[in-house]
Amino acid sequence: MPTETDEKRWRSLDERRDLVVPGTPEAYLDFATKQWLSIAQEAINARGRFTVALSGGSTPRALFQRLTTHKASESVDWNAVYLFWSDERTVPLTHKDANYRMAMEAGFTQLAVTTEHIFPLHGEGNLETQATAYEAQIRKHVPEGRFDLLMLGMGDDGHTASLFPATSALEEEKRWVLPNWVEEKQSWRLTFSFPLIHRARHLHVYVMGAGKADTLHAVLKGPHKPLTLPSQRLGTSENKALWIVDEAAAAKL
Ligand code: 6PG
Repeated sequence: MPTETDEKRWRSLDERRDLVVPGTPEAYLDFATKQWLSIAQEAINARGRFTVALSGGSTPRALFQRLTTHKASESVDWNAVYLFWSDERTVPLTHKDANYRMAMEAGFTQLAVTTEHIFPLHGEGNLETQATAYEAQIRKHVPEGRFDLLMLGMGDDGHTASLFPATSALEEEKRWVLPNWVEEKQSWRLTFSFPLIHRARHLHVYVMGAGKADTLHAVLKGPHKPLTLPSQRLGTSENKALWIVDEAAAAKL
């Protein structure tokens, strides 16, 4: 769990959100990795498995790499780890843009996760069928649909997962996984919905880099306009979101 120093930088923003700014990119990575492994160990000890939904994009890559070298990784029973993805692009899993490929290449092929416990989100074929099938997998392997750790990022337009501004998936109140047309990208995505995101035991939002500072200020400190800045919806009073932000991204908070 966090050290005394980390706790000094860990504060509540409101009843839905906490913020921790571990500092430099190195301190950030160390904190984020320790948190990931601590939650994994806690879940396995308590419930015999660790269910995690991995975020995509570039931010988590260094964290995944760190998992392969961190000392605490050695004590994790990787056979009890169940890997899912919180969103995926509509490309083959082997495509350079696939979140699945990024995570596996960054570290998970080196970690002894059982193949049967790795659940790629398939962005090809009939997306409605794929979304329904994925939700069934979650219902089968994630008790009560409550991920022990649900990882998300934040785009510089304020999106999270593939919940982009002014897209239809923002309105979803029942389904856990669904296709979402993203006009600005002229492409479909598959994404977790807010109802699923808000069931998580630990909801972590990872933000790094000066390029995110303006958007992060708007999301955490600006007027509430979640259709424009979907990341503003993250967190509830029952399941607070923990924003894990490096000092460059936190510069305008
Ligand atoms: C995706 C991600 C997306 C990502 C943010 C941040 O599929 O792209 O799920 O939500 O987390 O866009 O991406 P970066 O880490 O690359 O800035």
